[in-house]
Amino acid sequence: MAKGPYLGRSQIRIDGRAKVTGAAAYASDVRLPGCAHAALVTSTMPRGRILRFDLNGPRAMPGVIDIFTHHDFAGAIAPVKHLMDGGYANSSHLPLGSDAIAYAGQIVAVVVAETLEVAQAAAAQVGVAYEAAPFAGGFDVPGAETVRLADLKPHHKDPRTGDAVAALENAPVHIAARYETPVQHHNPMELFTTACVWDGPRLTVYEPTRYLGAVRHGLASQLGLDPENVRVVASFIGGHFGSKFALSQHTALIALAAQRIGRPVSLVPTRRQCFTIANYRPETRHDVHLGAERDGRFMALVHEAEMTASRFDAFAMEGTDVTASLYACANVHTDERAVRVDRNTPGPMRAPPEVPYLFALESAVDEMAVALDLDPIEVRRQNDTHTDPISGKPFSSRPLMTCFDVGARAFGWERRTRQPGSMRAGAWRVGIGCASAVRPVKISPATMRLSLLGDGTAIIETAHHEIGNGIATLLAMGAADGLGLPIEAVTVRLGDTSLPAAGLSGGSSTTTSLMHTLTLGTEEIRARLAGEAIRGGGRLARYDPANLRLSAGWLTAPDGAAEPLSDLVGRTGVDRIVSLSAFVPPDGSEANLDSVRAGRLALGSGDAKTLSWAFGAQFAEVHVHAETGVIRVARLTGAFAAGRVLNPLTARSQLTGGMIWGLGSALLEETVLDGGHYRNADLAEYLVPTSADAPELEAILIPDEDPQVNPLGLKGLGELGVIGVNAAIANAVFHATGQRIRRLPIRLDEFV
Ligand code: MOS
Repeated sequence: MAKGPYLGRSQIRIDGRAKVTGAAAYASDVRLPGCAHAALVTSTMPRGRILRFDLNGPRAMPGVIDIFTHHDFAGAIAPVKHLMDGGYANSSHLPLGSDAIAYAGQIVAVVVAETLEVAQAAAAQVGVAYEAAPFAGGFDVPGAETVRLADLKPHHKDPRTGDAVAALENAPVHIAARYETPVQHHNPMELFTTACVWDGPRLTVYEPTRYLGAVRHGLASQLGLDPENVRVVASFIGGHFGSKFALSQHTALIALAAQRIGRPVSLVPTRRQCFTIANYRPETRHDVHLGAERDGRFMALVHEAEMTASRFDAFAMEGTDVTASLYACANVHTDERAVRVDRNTPGPMRAPPEVPYLFALESAVDEMAVALDLDPIEVRRQNDTHTDPISGKPFSSRPLMTCFDVGARAFGWERRTRQPGSMRAGAWRVGIGCASAVRPVKISPATMRLSLLGDGTAIIETAHHEIGNGIATLLAMGAADGLGLPIEAVTVRLGDTSLPAAGLSGGSSTTTSLMHTLTLGTEEIRARLAGEAIRGGGRLARYDPANLRLSAGWLTAPDGAAEPLSDLVGRTGVDRIVSLSAFVPPDGSEANLDSVRAGRLALGSGDAKTLSWAFGAQFAEVHVHAETGVIRVARLTGAFAAGRVLNPLTARSQLTGGMIWGLGSALLEETVLDGGHYRNADLAEYLVPTSADAPELEAILIPDEDPQVNPLGLKGLGELGVIGVNAAIANAVFHATGQRIRRLPIRLDEFV
């Protein structure tokens, strides 16, 4: 990466002003001339069959254009597989494909009207008669089918080493407990909208998605179109947190409706419908056993985990790859199972496996520290390892204990007295807890067009996504440094399949993937200009082209000799120099690049020889009211090591934002399940942390030079901040009260 004034220093967002003034156009903001409005009717039944519809009343309402059901669309949409099963979709289930009801909240009809209000009013009048069938809505009900994850996902292998059962029996200290985490829904501000418009054989879709390519190729496959004739646009995305994953189930329905009525159609579903037409974090439960020597060294770890999955998709997150490899331990046994139930397919959500799986492991480590009467940080130090106990591979870098040491100092860990219930502030019991945060590094291939214009401006174009993480700003910083321009001279164009193909915005891989792609482009342009300078025979002709740098509008030699950029571009005889770069991660293959071009999943680890993870240490101070049990998080401190940090300002924002989500995970967020229905499906009753809930926050960035992980030493930190916060808070609650809460979210009625 070129040296320059931008990367590595804090930079405010280049799109910040447009966003706060309302000028930024989100996919949901699109207004298409002549657009009709759709509203969904969803199943009130968890499983069964549609017997008949009563559509006469709604059809007669003024302004209603048409109503579509499976009678209209069955067979019109070809099945596609789930993105994580080699396909494109959030879910392979096809609503309106037949009369079958597979889960509560399944789309059963689409009403199209002149206005959204009429469409919604008519949708409310659609009568549906069902024949109910038995269903299983969650764990432990008849009909819920437990399968080994390895049977559901052929590539999955439960990590195991040694003989954990025997080692547990021999361990002088042994703890065993069950930990549980609830269903959670992403609830981004921007709903799961779509708007479809046809122009002859060409379909354009405006939809907030974090994988434009999957929507394009998935729709083409569903509707039998040439992918070249499908354009997907999502200029800005109003949050995803793991939702807006790939091809939505409703997009083809709206595209077909638009085709049938010969007008553009836009869909704005209700918040309640967004709980069942998209994905969610499934409920999980974990049986963890830890055995240790008296000095704290782990002898045995058993982690058995279960999570729910749908009947029709093989989607289930795997998490024991992280819990089995985090600490030195010679005897590890894991077992992951999926429990198939009659619900919509779950999906990734904010550090999908680590948030629930590390809640379990990091609570168990704290329980072990209590059983050993040792400091919980010292127990982690005893079990720190620089090699993976499962594969024997080294970690590419492992600054976990540095995170604990720096974080503990900043947080004031030494104030903590060992005995639970021993700290108090007036009527409040005070507790202090900590937990590890770890996240494997992911990287994806991408393509990008970088243009340097004769007027000293540059344009970056790639079909990636600005989800609020600040990637547009980072790209502008990188191009400005690489081409020696002021950041104001760089325009960044994202969010459109007409731009060069790029992958999914996910797995905290965006910065790592796109900055490598950009660096190829800036280097190619620099090398071309250097070649031009040498061929031209001017002042720079005698220098080694590799030593010529672009800086402040000049191509400059180490001794200061220079030629202006504008002269060099002018001499090339074209008005712009264009680089079309294609990045393939070090352990990737050309096939991966083909996957990205074809809208399929292509996320790798970047280095097959090592285990490459980002690390952090989370610290929480909680106050539990001695009389009422009210729980307040007073402070959260996190110290994070995630490779090279390119924009400390947005990095801190990502990390502290994640820490606030972690507070939500510990104390607030839960979708209440009742017989296959989500009962609190709105933002009044689904609780997320507000500003008033946010505590004093500190995110510390620890230097982490890791030349092994990938050429630029980047790890990604989009999801790191949320991980481990739930366990740190639960551990602090134990320290305050002496009560171990093993089920999230933690509620005040536990303490009264
Ligand atoms: Mo993240 S929810 O793994 O994109």
